[in-house]
Amino acid sequence: MSSLIEPFTTANGCKLRSRVVMAALTRNRCVDSFKPGPAQVKYYTDRARDGAGIIVSEGILVDWAGTDWKHAPFMITDDHAQAWRTVVDAVHKEGALMFFQAWHPGRCQNEQMPIMKETGRAVFAPSAIPAKNGKYHDLPGMPGHTTNVHAIENPRDLIDTYRRSALLAKKAGFDGIEFIIQGGYLPHQFLISRANKRTDAYGGSVENRCRFNLELVGALSEDFGGPKFIGVKICPTDSLNDSMVTFEEMQETYTYLIKKLVERKLGFITICRRGANIGVETEFSFPRPEGYLLPRMYDPVLDFGGLVKYPGSQTTLMVNQDYDVEEADQLIKEGKIDLLQIGRPYIYNPDPVNRIRKGVPFAKNDRGGSVYYGPYNTPDENYNDWPKATA
Ligand SMILES: Cc1cc2nc3c(=O)[nH]c(=O)nc-3n(C[C@H](O)[C@H](O)[C@H](O)COP(=O)(O)O)c2cc1C
Repeated sequence: MSSLIEPFTTANGCKLRSRVVMAALTRNRCVDSFKPGPAQVKYYTDRARDGAGIIVSEGILVDWAGTDWKHAPFMITDDHAQAWRTVVDAVHKEGALMFFQAWHPGRCQNEQMPIMKETGRAVFAPSAIPAKNGKYHDLPGMPGHTTNVHAIENPRDLIDTYRRSALLAKKAGFDGIEFIIQGGYLPHQFLISRANKRTDAYGGSVENRCRFNLELVGALSEDFGGPKFIGVKICPTDSLNDSMVTFEEMQETYTYLIKKLVERKLGFITICRRGANIGVETEFSFPRPEGYLLPRMYDPVLDFGGLVKYPGSQTTLMVNQDYDVEEADQLIKEGKIDLLQIGRPYIYNPDPVNRIRKGVPFAKNDRGGSVYYGPYNTPDENYNDWPKATA
């Protein structure tokens, strides 16, 4: 029997009914004023009922600047918090915990997007350096990320922006927060030298580039009653949204960051291995140019996991990206990981835990790429219409 379906108690005493965690999945379906509605209640409740230990919400925006997905949710007003309360209450009734994923895209935005125009925003980032790539599906000609980026004057203001959402998330009943330091979004932009050329205390040395994220963890911990229910999602090998760094920078930066996070007794660290050299070709495999190559079969989970998971550590290690049940089970058996975050299979399977229990393979996506973010006729389409296993 798979260890993934066994209950698990984290080092800091958080009781989970399985080692399966639903990863954050943006689905671009919050069509009612950036709030979740009945479709989201059903979607998350179905997956909670199946037996996930923790459900991480889709990325929820902490700032009105928004993102390239025009129906991504926000957590800025009481109205947003109330709408999420309905979802979180329903998930709790089914016995899962629910974490709020705090999202700020920083330079990954385009000021031509309607939300930017309506709220009169400019695109801000650690430094005025545009991100390459991006594709704004709702703008004529599908342009990329803006070239008109402004440097953030005082990063502490942004921490206050995150805090505003964290307090609302608490009101909404979320059990914890995960924030993304990957994907080339704002916290990641502070971390990497290609996006951060600041000359103040938030740029330059590794210590300075990690400062924003460590201060953010500190602030959110205060608001959430300690670090126990705070998590970060990192991906050292990432290249999404112009975020690739050299192997040397990666080693130096993540060694320092992880040690400091674990020292602060952070509840959870998720290491994602998107872009790793593990011999699995997926839709998220990007070639790395000369100067950025990784060692053969390089897997950041195996490289950095030991900094998180060791006797006495108070931080739980979750892993993510292209795991199958067998590999995750083997790593649990070897004592190398605690929890598995499952992403894409949760889109096409409302019941992955039950499938693991019964040995039924996960269904695959046989409907094409639009199932992720649309277009759709109703938010339920390709969202709440995936069958459960019959076996
Ligand atoms: C449609 C889609 C939306 C996603 N949205 C988010 C998101 O909002 N936040 C996030 O951290 N990761 C997001 N991801 C990444 C997933 O959480 C996960 O890291 C990725 O799918 C790899 O896990 P898997 O191999 O189990 O699918 C998204 C991925 C997909 C396919």
